[in-house]
Amino acid sequence: MCDKTKEACSILAQNDRGGYTVPTHDLYPFQWNWDSAFVAMGFATFNVDRAYQELERLVEGQWNDGMIPHIIFHQPSDTYFPGPDVWRTDQHRQTKPTTSGITQPPVFGTALRYIYARHNIRERTLILFNAALRSHRWWLTARDPDQCGLVAILHPWESGSDNSPAWDEALLRVSTTTKTDIQRQDTKHVNATMRPRTIDYQRFIHLVETYRECDWNPKKQWLAAPFKVADVQITAILARATADLLWLASELHLTEEMQELSTMHCRLIRGLQSRWRENLRGFVSLDLISGKDIEKSTQACFIPLIALKLEDYQCEMVRKEIDRWCHGLILGVPTTPLFSSDFESKRYWRGPVWAIINWLIADGLRYNQLRDLAVNIERNTIDMIERNGFCEYFDPITGEGLGGNAFSWTAAAYLVLKHRLELL
Ligand code: GLC
Repeated sequence: MCDKTKEACSILAQNDRGGYTVPTHDLYPFQWNWDSAFVAMGFATFNVDRAYQELERLVEGQWNDGMIPHIIFHQPSDTYFPGPDVWRTDQHRQTKPTTSGITQPPVFGTALRYIYARHNIRERTLILFNAALRSHRWWLTARDPDQCGLVAILHPWESGSDNSPAWDEALLRVSTTTKTDIQRQDTKHVNATMRPRTIDYQRFIHLVETYRECDWNPKKQWLAAPFKVADVQITAILARATADLLWLASELHLTEEMQELSTMHCRLIRGLQSRWRENLRGFVSLDLISGKDIEKSTQACFIPLIALKLEDYQCEMVRKEIDRWCHGLILGVPTTPLFSSDFESKRYWRGPVWAIINWLIADGLRYNQLRDLAVNIERNTIDMIERNGFCEYFDPITGEGLGGNAFSWTAAAYLVLKHRLELL
């Protein structure tokens, strides 16, 4: 095993808090939903038991209605804001660990397939499969009540891309007033110029308060939400995970579930197909309050490739567009392109490169037979981590590693991509 591979494994071990992994020490001291799904795949490359455990500990926090929350507060910590006292989700918990009240991209089903395909443990898979299926049902009822085949986020944190320029306009409708005393902890760990701004946090907390006042009831939240975006990134992740659950259902001989998943899948695929925009050479999200397309260039434009088979001419357009985004940069693929007026090379989701986003984009390119470009991105991602460390994200102009260090999902991306390229 090479030194970097050992380092990746030891980061996952350091961030282990007893069967689950924190994204990084201090800055993110709890279990995060999509981080854990990526991490479970990283573990699957060398420790199958630990891979299953990561997902098992995540579903300890699943709500009665099926939602898998974005944070599971297994143990107290005062290095993160907002904690359980702000979310106040207790009535949903019974004996479970306390959690936040919103969700995150459902990579879970994809992670479960990845683990099962390598290790084939039926009993543990079946339990997790049922948890995943319940969460997909929640997505389609709570977040697509009008059955348009696109699921909505009600909070930018649900997207996983907290301060993406894609949310700027929709967020203007959200008040900046809050009842909570905002005591940010993130800027104590990371330079404030790299993090979301104060005004963003005011809106983030206003939204938490709004949904708390709805008693975290999905129907009430849907009606009260001042921010409601049918996001192509999260819909694509859900569609892909639905296809992965369908594959698992067939492996496990679950006929009824196959039927149900197949209906869900068709609905999501139709929804995603409707979001292609030729002039933008990619897919666009929909602001459900204004009814308008969100035309901002962000990485989300390319994520639907993980779920959809594009026509040849569309593939060619996407390939050219990704080349254009990477042109002149030390690292790609940026989360916002250099030519956009929103580009900031160091501020969180407004430009920097994230290993897990490159992993998703590469998956989508492979699924669409764009293997050369996928391999290129995978190799560059491995190289970026080897040169600049296992950081949270990277400056596309200088290559510098930024945000939290010893980051779990960057370590997982390194292991999975190396494994894929048979470099392990
Ligand atoms: C930030 C990221 C989110 C991630 C979390 C923990 O909030 O935007 O995607 O899940 O940190 O790493």
